[in-house]
Amino acid sequence: MNYQTLKQWDHRYLWHPFTPQQYWEEEKPLIIERGRGCYLYDTGGKRYIDGVSSLWVTVHGHTHPALNRAIRGQLNRVAHSTLLGLSHEPAIALARGLIRVAPPGLGRVFYSDSGSTAVEIALKMAFQYWANRGESRKQSFIRLENAYHGDTIGAVSVGGIPLFHQVYGPLLFRSYEAPSPYCYRCPLGKKPDRCRLACLDRLEKLLARRSETTAAFILEPLVQGAAGMITFPPGYLRRARALCNRYRVLLIADEVAVGFGRTGTLFACEQEEVTPDLLCVGKGLTGGYLPLAATLTTEEIYEAFLGRVEETKTFYHGHTYTGNPLACAAAVENLRLLDRPDFFSTLREKIQLLEQLLKPFRELAHVGEVRQKGFMVGLELVRDRESKTMFPPELRLGHRVILEARKYGIVIRPLGDVIVLMPPLTIPRKALKELVAGTYQAVRSVTASP
Ligand SMILES: Cc1ncc(COP(=O)(O)O)c(C=O)c1O
Repeated sequence: MNYQTLKQWDHRYLWHPFTPQQYWEEEKPLIIERGRGCYLYDTGGKRYIDGVSSLWVTVHGHTHPALNRAIRGQLNRVAHSTLLGLSHEPAIALARGLIRVAPPGLGRVFYSDSGSTAVEIALKMAFQYWANRGESRKQSFIRLENAYHGDTIGAVSVGGIPLFHQVYGPLLFRSYEAPSPYCYRCPLGKKPDRCRLACLDRLEKLLARRSETTAAFILEPLVQGAAGMITFPPGYLRRARALCNRYRVLLIADEVAVGFGRTGTLFACEQEEVTPDLLCVGKGLTGGYLPLAATLTTEEIYEAFLGRVEETKTFYHGHTYTGNPLACAAAVENLRLLDRPDFFSTLREKIQLLEQLLKPFRELAHVGEVRQKGFMVGLELVRDRESKTMFPPELRLGHRVILEARKYGIVIRPLGDVIVLMPPLTIPRKALKELVAGTYQAVRSVTASP
């Protein structure tokens, strides 16, 4: 089909996610035809570096032979069979594989199909865990300011991004907000080198006041992704875990964005030796090939759901495509590829290279902060560096930067005025340099005349 027809039909029939359609219909859509390694190719054959891993999912690159083979192999056996009342080998193998590499203490895997559902399940499990134990006052949740955990109503109820979440207020259950460890714009007005993580004191106060009625505290470990790649100060996660223990509140770690190597270790929680009570994974679980997610939990939580049927302790939750065999087969292969002996040492070298490459951004007049954790980067654009004043949203500066970046053969997607770089973990060094250099040119030229 030619580009003009595709464009016309896109504008006529499609409604794109998280997209102001009014603007979209005025733009020429970039239509992707195929991918290979860290590259995407449009319908005209132009090549782009996939600078955000197709929305933070691609781990080993596109059309990876081993992942393709794993999916094809499973396709020849069965494309789908349910986990409701039946089982299948890819789901069993993957559950075992996940538990072997997950933070110690996690023992059970419950599948679903998106990050949002993995979170939804964690919230419901936490809620019902306490109910099943006869502590049904523990019903509410604590979350961070700027939190993003997905778009279903439960996940939105523990969300903290007003632009996305405020309108649904009347639909949501209440959750209590703890300050975000957003050091660049500290909500408590502290300086990072002297704050002693005062934001955790606020969390502690909240826990102390509400522990009797709180089921769980949910957070994204090490990086608040959709909030603008907000990187946590060291020690925050470990101390948050200790507080949850002290106040008998479950800890839900949402590793949907940070899992599978993104932060330089397989799971972000590893870096502070934390085992959450519930761990949510999605996105990179299949290497970025198919929709699959999982909620991992401890044997203790699992056991609270055992009992005779009349005790109604069962977890009555399950999506039709839960644990789809094709997706599980891809995920098993993903774990195998991540387990190669040199995978993380090579990644760590590239993380250091990325750190070096990002240095010139600090000199740009309109880059307020350069944030990096592993292969997650946020470049926060500001009108004035001194006062940290933001650009007016109607300028759509972040959006303009990503359109400019396409001229350099780069596909990226911003979070407001935070430019995100999150390439596939196997991106070659040369392409990584091109990605950063092209993004630099795009930021420089757009911010020169905002
Ligand atoms: C931390 C986090 N949790 C949950 C989600 C929701 O995942 P999904 O879009 O697969 O529903 C996202 C998506 O970006 C995320 O970043």
